[in-house]
Amino acid sequence: MRTIRFGIIGCGLMGREFASAVGRWGHLLDLDVKPELVAICDTNPALFEWYRAHVPTLKLATQDHREMLASKDVDAVYCAVPHNLHASLYKDIVAAGKHLLGEKPFGIDAAANAEILAALRANPGVFVRCSSEFPFFPCAQRIVKAAQAGRFGTILEVNAGLHHSSDMDPQKPINWKRMVKFNGAYGCMGDLGMHALHIPLRLGWKPKDVRAVLSKIVKERPDGKGGMAPCETWDNATLLCTAADPKTGGDFPLTISTKRISPGDTNTWFLSVKGTRCSMEFNSRYPKTLRTLDYTSGGEQAWREEDLGYQTAFKSITGHIFEFGFSDAILQMWAAYCVELAHGAEAVPFGCVKPEETAWQHELFTAALASHAEGKVVRL
Ligand SMILES: NC(=O)c1ccc[n+]([C@@H]2O[C@H](COP(=O)([O-])OP(=O)(O)OC[C@H]3O[C@@H](n4cnc5c(N)ncnc54)[C@H](O)[C@@H]3O)[C@@H](O)[C@H]2O)c1
Repeated sequence: MRTIRFGIIGCGLMGREFASAVGRWGHLLDLDVKPELVAICDTNPALFEWYRAHVPTLKLATQDHREMLASKDVDAVYCAVPHNLHASLYKDIVAAGKHLLGEKPFGIDAAANAEILAALRANPGVFVRCSSEFPFFPCAQRIVKAAQAGRFGTILEVNAGLHHSSDMDPQKPINWKRMVKFNGAYGCMGDLGMHALHIPLRLGWKPKDVRAVLSKIVKERPDGKGGMAPCETWDNATLLCTAADPKTGGDFPLTISTKRISPGDTNTWFLSVKGTRCSMEFNSRYPKTLRTLDYTSGGEQAWREEDLGYQTAFKSITGHIFEFGFSDAILQMWAAYCVELAHGAEAVPFGCVKPEETAWQHELFTAALASHAEGKVVRL
């Protein structure tokens, strides 16, 4: 069993999700690689207590990421910090020779992303990927396999998105994710967009142009100190793109939709592919249900619903009839990262987001900002 010794930089919401995944690694079967969490870093030391209580392998807790990166005990880093810090920290991590799973959007803007990718080229010995866990839902993986097998025929349209409603309440106090300085000008696109783009980009459905409609709905929020603060970031974004299917060469409309104010949605990730021979839909609101419509010339057109259960890319102890959820997707994503680090891309059926895919994401979101500002179609 190969052990990859990890450090976490950014011990907030997502840092804890990773620590929890490490703690239940025994859930996965037949792997010859495992992560061990040895170091944590956050500028807020109050967060260390939870890790100390739950992570027996911890050797170092520090407020200075340079101290962690100097440690010979750390092979790889999960970095989950606000977007304005991605470029400087990711560059330091790879320059220190540590492997990296970084968070999206992988740089606050296109310039920051380009700096990160230049640092990767200067340090080719490190394995670097970006986080995106929703495509590891079993139904999503089934759609990927159908696309790879050319089952859809001519693709008519693809709709992918991530919608939530955590900003519905205008009285919710502001945090860094609603401030351009920390979150970036992309707003909800930078927060949610990589999840929606991961599968389309991996399947080669790269946008060729974009026409974007962006909405700022809540203009100010309580600042937590009795006053109000401007809420500057885009709440909702709909990007209508032209994409080409590499299997047929044909163009089709690809819609990428990211919303923070979507009534009733709690992290609803969805992917719908409509084709002349087959259509498939998955929506995480119904986490085990895959909808499929197969069509042969003149035949009936009937949607079929199939409950998939725990049919995962990486085998686990959970019986195949049980349900799959968010923290299971996190565990599968980490299995993909660790197995690819240890054995290369051929060893994983579907891998984490590649650095070049993060660059395509930045190209799209930068174009979307221009498209909305100027009310025009922007070519990529
Ligand atoms: N994959 C997903 O589903 C998902 C979900 C939410 C957030 N994210 C991404 O994860 C990243 C972090 O988001 P979060 O929700 O965990 O945020 P968070 O605010 O909960 O955690 C960020 C942490 O970074 C720490 N930090 C700030 N500056 C630091 C520094 N210089 N050194 C060390 N620590 C520092 C903060 O103190 C905080 O604890 C973002 O890029 C976000 O887009 C991903």
